[in-house]
Amino acid sequence: MNYPYQLRTFEAYQDAYNKSINDPEAFWAEVAEQFTWKKKWDKVLDWNFKEPKIEWFKGGQLNITENCLDRHLATKANEPAIIWESNDPNEHHRVLTYKELHFKVQQFANVLLNNGVQKGDRVCIYMGMIPELAIATLACARIGAIHSVIFGGFSAQAIADRLDDAGAEFIVTCDGAFRGAKDIPLKSVIDDALVGNKTIKRVIVCTRTRTPVSMLKGRDVWWEDEIKKVETMGNPKVESATMDAEDILFILYTSGSTGKPKGVVHTTAGYMVWTNYTFVNAFQYQPGQVHFCTADIGWITGHSYIIYGPLSAGATTLMFEGVPTWPDAGRFWEVVEKFKVDILYTAPTAIRSLMGFGLDPIKGKDLSSLKVLGSVGEPINEEAWHWYNEHIGQNRCPIVDTWWQTETGGVMISNLAGVTPSKPSYATLPLPGIQPCLVDENGTEIEGNGVNGNLCIKFPWPGMIRTTYKDHERCRQTYFSTYENLYFTGDGCLRDEDGMYRITGRVDDVLNVSGHRIGTAEVENAINMHAGVIESAVVGFPHDIKGQGIFAYVIYDGTHGDANLSKQDIIQTVSRIIGPIAKPDQILFVPGLPKTRSGKIMRRILRKIAEGDTSNLGDTSTLLDPSLVQQIVELAK
Ligand code: WT7
Repeated sequence: MNYPYQLRTFEAYQDAYNKSINDPEAFWAEVAEQFTWKKKWDKVLDWNFKEPKIEWFKGGQLNITENCLDRHLATKANEPAIIWESNDPNEHHRVLTYKELHFKVQQFANVLLNNGVQKGDRVCIYMGMIPELAIATLACARIGAIHSVIFGGFSAQAIADRLDDAGAEFIVTCDGAFRGAKDIPLKSVIDDALVGNKTIKRVIVCTRTRTPVSMLKGRDVWWEDEIKKVETMGNPKVESATMDAEDILFILYTSGSTGKPKGVVHTTAGYMVWTNYTFVNAFQYQPGQVHFCTADIGWITGHSYIIYGPLSAGATTLMFEGVPTWPDAGRFWEVVEKFKVDILYTAPTAIRSLMGFGLDPIKGKDLSSLKVLGSVGEPINEEAWHWYNEHIGQNRCPIVDTWWQTETGGVMISNLAGVTPSKPSYATLPLPGIQPCLVDENGTEIEGNGVNGNLCIKFPWPGMIRTTYKDHERCRQTYFSTYENLYFTGDGCLRDEDGMYRITGRVDDVLNVSGHRIGTAEVENAINMHAGVIESAVVGFPHDIKGQGIFAYVIYDGTHGDANLSKQDIIQTVSRIIGPIAKPDQILFVPGLPKTRSGKIMRRILRKIAEGDTSNLGDTSTLLDPSLVQQIVELAK
């Protein structure tokens, strides 16, 4: 397969960009022609940002797995679709060709059907990074069930909230998951999440760690047993379900500025076109190359650039179960060497943490197969950029700094590898179809170059969020009400003298810890669940490795004894309510929180103190109790 819409020169990019702005419908129709449709669309785009209503390729019918699997069989049946590398360097890797993946997806689709899953049903997937996770995800799409993948690091309580919100009736999980030296008991976490649950009809458990699990009669079944039943049936084919272009493909929960995570909804055709188009263009994928995205499939990066983008392009996608630093900090480079990886896509947090181990882990590793490097999830600082460029890319691999969000489905602002210019710490230029703009607090567009503002997008693109599950008003409020007729990203942004974009970070109450989004309100709610806590306020602070760390100011009822133990208890509580990723790095017990007379917490001041910068705390005169600030500063010393 070649990609007629792959932009190979800067001029081609400029032409495509101009066309995408001047005649978006014609532009996207031409791209969409390249896919397999069961029925062609009636209208390319129907939209308004007021409701919002976003409909791409309306009237069209298709199935994304037909585009990710069936259509490659004629030319790529025996080429690797998924290469899987174990957490354990001594365990043999696995390769699934397109033919094998096609077979296994249908086999598991049969398992889903046998267990009563129907089109439109929500299936929660809570698994480690094994090929069965990709198989389960694609099997849902095969039969038109809506998948909702939950990252393996979320707690039972966090899962329970998500199951409830999605109204999920089915779960696919594993006995456990390996991650570095750890063995995470996934099934047991699911059991805890299901205490009191009344909607889940079936839990399908795949064997990975052989950790003992309890299987509830009538509810829990083994993946392997269910596959055997399908084999006994003679592995019947499962024709791909006919989906409308705007039928929901998946829900993925992400954090916002309120305490309740929201279910971001992506639909079938637009998401497929967008992940494919951005994959082929940002990374400049060439047939036969090995693409290694190190994200977990529990996050959008894994959905879009391990599964749907690469597979829809007939690419070879590498799935890695482990972590960069186990058994040692050379693990990524070992994987790159072993599979002659062409494209490596990872997060600044991973780069910074590996930088800390020096150059020894890289020595003797053959990285000469690498052609393109990618960065995602948070701003990449210049130091990390240069290290990545010099020591991993050996000064010959373009680095794509890809800015995007769970809500955008795929890459929005990024250089195209080797095709458009790069600039350290800059995401650079918008992809075709993306119309970024910067606005001030009043929503007035800031024109020209060399300016700062809040980043918005003016016009729909195929991969954009359609709604927040069962709560359309929340979608409108969060993204489309701050500024009229604009999608608001929540990010601050600089446009330099050359018109290049540099993302400066979130301007709302959302933290970005190790490239993972966590709402401050979510962490506060979790802390407040602890019996000894009266009130809390959470802010981010700069962290050398994680990008941002979590700093919690807590008003604590100290009658329960030892302060250090109490802090440990609070950390435990957060871990139980949300998951280990949300654990505060620092907790400070304070007598009160700096509030205005109207009761609003002045986070600006708390952020400054957390940063250790107390030289200028700004105007504190509007505070209810200005003396409190000095007390907190003293405690923080
Ligand atoms: C937030 C979205 C994109 C998939 C992974 C994270 C930040 C993302 C970049 C980048 C600077 C970035 C933004 C964005 N972000 N990529 N290249 N440079 N910041 O998805 O969890 O939805 O988080 O991550 O702040 O809003 P997410």
